[in-house]
Amino acid sequence: MANRFRSFWSNFKTVYDVNNELNFNNKKKVKSHHQQIREHCQNLILTDDQVQEYMSRFLNCIKDGLRLSTHKYATVKCFPTYVQDLPNGKEKGKFLALDLGGTNFRVLIVNLAENKFDMNSKIYAVPQAIMVGTGEQLFDHIASCLADFMAEQHISNETLPLGFTFSFPCIQEGLTKGILKQWTKGFDCSGVAGHDVVQFLKEAINRRGDLNIEVVAILNDATSTLVSCSYQRHDCFISVIVGTGSNACYVEQTKNCETFNGDRNKPLVIINCEWGAFGDNHELEFIRTEYDVEVDQNSINTGRQLHEKMVSGMYLGEIVRLVLVKLTKEKILFDGKAPDILFKSGSFKTKYISEIESDKVGVYSQCKNVLLNKLNFDQVSEQDCVDVRYICECISRRAAHLISAGVATLINKIPYNRVTVGVDGSVYRFHPHFHNLLVEKIKCLVKPGVTFDIMLSEDGSGRGAALVAAVASR
Ligand code: BGC
Repeated sequence: MANRFRSFWSNFKTVYDVNNELNFNNKKKVKSHHQQIREHCQNLILTDDQVQEYMSRFLNCIKDGLRLSTHKYATVKCFPTYVQDLPNGKEKGKFLALDLGGTNFRVLIVNLAENKFDMNSKIYAVPQAIMVGTGEQLFDHIASCLADFMAEQHISNETLPLGFTFSFPCIQEGLTKGILKQWTKGFDCSGVAGHDVVQFLKEAINRRGDLNIEVVAILNDATSTLVSCSYQRHDCFISVIVGTGSNACYVEQTKNCETFNGDRNKPLVIINCEWGAFGDNHELEFIRTEYDVEVDQNSINTGRQLHEKMVSGMYLGEIVRLVLVKLTKEKILFDGKAPDILFKSGSFKTKYISEIESDKVGVYSQCKNVLLNKLNFDQVSEQDCVDVRYICECISRRAAHLISAGVATLINKIPYNRVTVGVDGSVYRFHPHFHNLLVEKIKCLVKPGVTFDIMLSEDGSGRGAALVAAVASR
């Protein structure tokens, strides 16, 4: 781990070392352009004061979400999940799980025996037309994937309990009732918002008439990640998703959650923060940049999920692209010329950031590969690579620092001195430095005496859904 850190910082140095050498050869031009680029990127680097301000605003928003009198207008809704019982390792049986939330959809079958976990799964695509079609089309697609999977597994004739990980903001009215508040992450299926998603699923299954399924739980991916990690680590009280979208869950004392209508005799309940919507009431204007404003304006849910749009995989690549375009137009990057593709929205994928930042110290092979082979540049200079990497670093570090500030706020809020944070999502998984950036930043932000671990959740969404289904049918 320490080595990963060191190589990250030495990478940073090298970017500037290389720049100095280039300065030596072409002093005036390179230095002034590079300096101008750095000045342009200054507003993408969060100061300590800004991070503190973010934390205090976020904490206020959490409290607003939990309090009855303020919940209605709160941006961070802090929905109670009705998950109050965690698995104890003694669950047994066969369970189905569905996992819908990004571009792919997964069906899983899980076999639980005492402290044993066997799993089989299949990924199905969700075509773009279905992501923005009608609710019936989406749920018919889900039911047909489920039927295909059950046939392949030779379980079509069994009646099995099913846990449904549905990774969109839902108002839960129990473990089996989730009213979709709004779509996020590029989904926009008509007729679903304001309705119970479990009902949609059941009706689609009934329309087919060939499956016997009992939907026993609906939960968010952050919730299933928390449940799944706590199965392995009993001190896991927080989970975070940094993937296509972003969110966090944590274990709250029931007495602090005024909006909870479930069993108040049980001391704890998992809260689904829905932190993606933090900022939707102008709480983040003090750090949003012109690029964040543009990303939001070009999205299908303008004005919503503003925090998510600064940190998650659906948007980070586009932020980088907007910076590259602006600096090219200002003629301080790529000598002022770039292929048409760079000017098309969505052309700079978030995974390119991870690839570019994977290059070893002083080497730019991944960066060149992205610029030459993915973005159609005819040629790129070493200095272009230094600058592109710098821009990627600014944007991924800003995301990591915002996530860290959010996690630290939660760690500081809960009454435990030893906390494991379960994390999942493509940005966290594939960015080469994200984990280290989180650890380093959170360390600076938690109150004295607290220790924490960041744990990668393996298959959390699917596992968690099966585990909650198992607990529900216990
Ligand atoms: C959704 C959350 C989800 C997160 C991560 C967000 O867009 O609102 O419910 O947990 O993405 O998938």
